[in-house]
Amino acid sequence: MASLGIFLFLCLLSAAQLSRSQQPGDVDLIKAEHVQPLGGWSSVNSQNPEVHKAANKAVEEFNSRSKTKKLFQLVEVTSATSQVMNIILYKINATIGKTNCLKSEAIDKRSCVLRKKYLACEFEVALDPRNNTFEVISSVCRKQPQK
Ligand SMILES: *[C@@H]1O[C@H](CO)[C@@H](O)[C@H](O)[C@H]1NC(C)=O
Ligand SMILES: *[C@@H]1O[C@H](CO)[C@@H](O)[C@H](O)[C@H]1NC(C)=O
Repeated sequence: MASLGIFLFLCLLSAAQLSRSQQPGDVDLIKAEHVQPLGGWSSVNSQNPEVHKAANKAVEEFNSRSKTKKLFQLVEVTSATSQVMNIILYKINATIGKTNCLKSEAIDKRSCVLRKKYLACEFEVALDPRNNTFEVISSVCRKQPQK
């Protein structure tokens, strides 16, 4: 029954196209049939704990890749957006800061002190809800312009 319905619909559609083929209304109708629902980006509260986990994961990766000997820390998330699909994608703008701690030190990171050297970062992190794993997709950090 369903395929018959579609068949009839297509017949009606092509009949309509034939009879009014030059009218712009038909173009709109056909376009609308092919529009895929797009997963849009929506803003997320910058205090959101999942966003902070994602940002910290990105900072961890930043630390493992950066050439500096000092440890960087998340200072604040300035803004964030997310897109929910089969995974959750976060785009995060954050400030990170250099600390007095050495990366090689196995210390309590909460005791590290910021050294007033800040970077503005844009992170993209994916959260896979099936195993609750964060994966850093991209990470770009620049020197924060002096205020
Ligand atoms: C992050 O900052 C950049 C540059 O200012 C901006 O284009 C982008 O939209 C921001 N992203 C988020 C998630 O706020
Ligand atoms: C989590 O699941 C995804 C998709 O199933 C997989 O690609 C990824 O490797 C998994 N991560 C871990 C740490 O198991």
